[in-house]
Formats: sequence, C-alpha cells, structure tokens
Amino acid sequence: MNGMLSVDLPDVPRLSSGKVRELFDLGDTLLIVATDRISAFDCVLPDPIPGKGEILNQLSAFWFQKFHQVPNHFITTSFESYPEALQPYADLIRGRSMIVRKSTPLPVECVVRGYLAGSGWKEYQESGTVCGIDLPEGLEFASQLPVPIFTPATKAASGHDENITWPKCCDILGSDQATVVRDLSLALYSEGSLYAATRDIIIADTKFEFGLCNGEIVLIDECLTPDSSRFWPADVYVAGKNPPSFDKQFVRDYLESLDWNKRPPAPRLPPEIIEKTAEKYRDVFTHLVG
Ligand SMILES: Nc1ncnc2c1ncn2[C@@H]1O[C@H](COP(=O)(O)OP(=O)(O)OP(=O)(O)O)[C@@H](O)[C@H]1O
Ligand SMILES: [Mg+2]
Repeated sequence: MNGMLSVDLPDVPRLSSGKVRELFDLGDTLLIVATDRISAFDCVLPDPIPGKGEILNQLSAFWFQKFHQVPNHFITTSFESYPEALQPYADLIRGRSMIVRKSTPLPVECVVRGYLAGSGWKEYQESGTVCGIDLPEGLEFASQLPVPIFTPATKAASGHDENITWPKCCDILGSDQATVVRDLSLALYSEGSLYAATRDIIIADTKFEFGLCNGEIVLIDECLTPDSSRFWPADVYVAGKNPPSFDKQFVRDYLESLDWNKRPPAPRLPPEIIEKTAEKYRDVFTHLVG
C-alpha cells in the first residue's frame, strides 16, 4: 500500500497546508484532508505512513461525536453528503477527510498532562515545575501526576511550540477565554481518559485546539489522536520506564538513535520502521474504536 504525501483538488481552493493536514475552503465550511504525512520534532518526514490519514480522521470523528456536548467543529465524514463539487474526488478524500465549521483558531495550544513525559519531564527535572506549576518532589519519568494539569503552549516564531505559564495564557487570551478553554480541556481529557481506560489505554497527555466560530468557542482541529496525544498501553505501564507507545514516540525514538540534528531535511525511514509505525496507528484505533 502506498501512502499519500500530498493532495490536490483542482477547482477547490486550498486554504492552507499544515504539516499533516490540508485545508480546503468550501465557503462557510472547510474540508480537512488528512494525508499520510508524519512529522516529528516539528519536521515533516519524507516518507508517508500508509493508512495513517484515514485512522487519524476517523479517530477524531469518533471523539468529536462522543463529545457532542462540547461545541465542536465536526459536521460530517460521510462522503455521500459532501457537496457536489467534491464528488469527483472520492478516490482521494473518502475516509480521510472531514467537513467542519470554519473558525478562527485561538493562538494557544491547550495541552493537558496526566503523566510526566516529553517537555513536561524536561522542565520538571530542571525546576520541579511544569509550565510554572509546582509539582511534588520525587516524581519519575512517566509518573502519574496527582491531578491532570493544564499546560498551555504557543506556536513560537521558530515553529517549535513553547510552553507558557497560566498568567501568560491569560495575557494572550484574556482571563475569561483562558478559563473557558482550560476548563473544557481538563474536562475533555478526563472524559477521554476514563473511556480509554476501559480499552486499556492511558492517555498520558494531549493537545486540544479551540477556535472562535460566530463568537462561540468551539473545539477544532484533531481530537485525541496519536498525533496530538501520548497513548500508552495500560497493561505494561510502569512509572520510571519509557512505556512502549501507540503513537509517534516510536518514530521519535528511531530518529533519536540517528545522528540527525533535527533540522530539515529529515531522514528517510527504513521500510520496517514505516510498517511498524503504521501498525501502531492501526492498533490504537482498534483498541479505542474497533
Ligand atoms: N475548524 C477549523 N477552522 C480553521 N482552522 C482549523 C480548523 N480546524 C483545524 N484548523 C487548523 O488546521 C491546521 C491543521 O493542520 P495540521 O495539524 O497538519 O497543521 P500543523 O502543522 O499542526 O499546523 P501549524 O503548522 O499551523 O501548527 C492547523 O493549523 C489548525 O489550527
Ligand atoms: Mg496540528
């Protein structure tokens, strides 16, 4: 199976190209197409992961429908109900695309952490805090936090996300809006984690995005996918150990084993790493939804 690295829909205006997804402008709504591109350390890798786009798309759709009580941008993934202008593109977009409400994204990434990993673990080792939040002493890598914490980030000019403190988040969004997105993020994380636990998956951390749509704050972008979250298998989880993961960590670990400075161009992936990664995406989908 070949993966999709790029997508062109002649006659449909492209709004923007993300690292993984392409946005097309349908007037009042948007078409989001998930390619099979994979990014790591904020670099898009030259090889696609076959099947990834479809899995990401369907997993987000699953959560958006589950979280229908929270205003979100989801409209449909049902190709039959797509506008006439998209019907010629079934082979390209069916299954890997979603029609959503157009919104203006808020300039803060809403990260929630229930466990200590990634940049949170790094900061904790240096200062005993994560995004300025004091944490108990003696936590190990991958330890569960006493309670999940909201650790916002901004897209820095460098392109890398930068963790920010709560006061800084309030400066950017205003404290009313900051409070709304913080509370929604914590509630979504908690509901998602409870569900995932019934499927033997730990959601170590995740990132939500919100946007404004006719003055209303709505959950946008993707939701609780392996690209936006760290998923760990609960049955083999032990604090202190690098958990085998259901997400991009596998690719990150491979890339860390190379002598690569994490600047473009990113290295090619060997076929076995591509296949193993594709399998991880399939596995987490089967665990959560199948
Ligand atoms: N409903 C929406 N309205 C407007 N923009 C949206 C909506 N949902 C998602 N987006 C934007 O679509 C893009 C998704 O693309 P993708 O995740 O591939 O990009 P990214 O690399 O994370 O983006 P960026 O480079 O901006 O960080 C994000 O920039 C996201 O903010
Ligand atoms: Mg993104």
